[in-house]
This record gives sequence, C-alpha cells and structure tokens, in this order.
Amino acid sequence: MAGHGMPDQQEQAQVDERQGAAEQDHPEHGDHEHGRHEHGDEPRQPVRTVGEEPDTSRGTVRPITVVGNPVLHRACKPVTEFGAELHALIDDMFVSMYAADGVGLAANQIGVDARVFVYDCPDDDGVRHVGVMVNPVLEDLPPERRTLDESPEGCLSVPGAYVDLARPDHAVVRGQDREGREITVEGTGFFARCLQHETDHLNGYLYLDRLSKRDRKDALRQMAEKEPSYEVVPN
Ligand code: NI
Repeated sequence: MAGHGMPDQQEQAQVDERQGAAEQDHPEHGDHEHGRHEHGDEPRQPVRTVGEEPDTSRGTVRPITVVGNPVLHRACKPVTEFGAELHALIDDMFVSMYAADGVGLAANQIGVDARVFVYDCPDDDGVRHVGVMVNPVLEDLPPERRTLDESPEGCLSVPGAYVDLARPDHAVVRGQDREGREITVEGTGFFARCLQHETDHLNGYLYLDRLSKRDRKDALRQMAEKEPSYEVVPN
C-alpha cells in the first residue's frame, strides 16, 4: 500500500525540524539510510514501534508490478518452505517497499507468486507497526465491530493515485511468521486498512476492484497523469 499523500508545506517543515533534532541527538544515525524512514508520510512521529525493523543491508530493490500484470490478478500460492529462499524474498520486499515509499507490500507486487506481505505502517494512534505476514487470513469481524472508515487509499501497483474507500477500521489477520510460527496481527485505523489491502493483494485483488466504476476510472486517470517515482515492471 502507498503511504498517505504528500504532507502539506507546514507538516513537511515540522517533519524536517524533528529530523534535525533527532540527528543532533544521535549524530551516528544522521545518514541517508535512516533519513528515508523519517521522510515517510506518517502524519506524526510514531510514539512507539511494534515489531522489529528489518536489516535493509541484505535485500535488493526490485521493480513494482502494476495493474494489468497477471500476477496481481490471481490468488498467490501458499508458502510451505520457511527457509533461505523465503528469507531472501522478505529482505527484497522490505527494501523494495522502502524504495517506493510504501507502507505495505505483497510478494506479487515484485512479481513473486507467494502468500507473503511486509509492512511498516503507522496506525491512527501514532504507533508504528513493522513486520511480515506469511499465509495471511483475514478474520471475519462480528457486526458490532464493523465500523467503516472512509479514507484515501493508494497502492504502489497503481502509482500516483489516491481514492477514498470505506473499510472496517479494525482488522485481525492470522498467519505465520518467517519461521512458520503461528501469529495474529491486529490493527486499527490506517494500519487496519493496510492489513486488509495487503491480504486482498494475495487473494488477487487490488483496491481498484473494491471501487465504483467511476472511482476506478478516476484512479486510473490519476495514474496515467503521473510518472511513477519508482521503478515499475512495464506491462
Ligand atoms: Ni497495494
């Protein structure tokens, strides 16, 4: 999933100010590698991080597949081997997501047919969530928990487009971690949106598939109007 839209000028100034302060406190972290995370589109500084930051020195940035590529429009294969090949894929997914300034990425977005997604995404309470989910299954919510939130959504596979989409503001996903251990991840707000969006990808759906004909057309028009700011796989 793509991050929020670009912050406005004032927000950007605040981000820069905070970044400067952070660099003074931790001069050894003032390199561009770390700066990239702080340049994210989070509405405010995360108050804490849940999950473990990946070692981004290991992965290779891969180009992103875009709407129309068959790998995005069919369900991905379940992962059965939790070895070096999966771990290398996860490394590539994290660095590819960061290179494209995304907050979530599914394996088929770098052309790999495997049920895996990664995320580094803030929720609406300022908590930053970082992790990987293998073979995710979205839990059905009881009706009393199905409160819809209508907010802008974007996708790295539909570069440059943002369209409002209503989704439940709470999500529970069950699956496995990189070693195959059972895990459950729960999210609210923007992170709930991300969990649902990425699970959709692995089931062969883009958020475009949840839009009205008119909104879908609008998203594709937005995409056509801009050059992607990251490398994509031509269709
Ligand atoms: Ni997406």
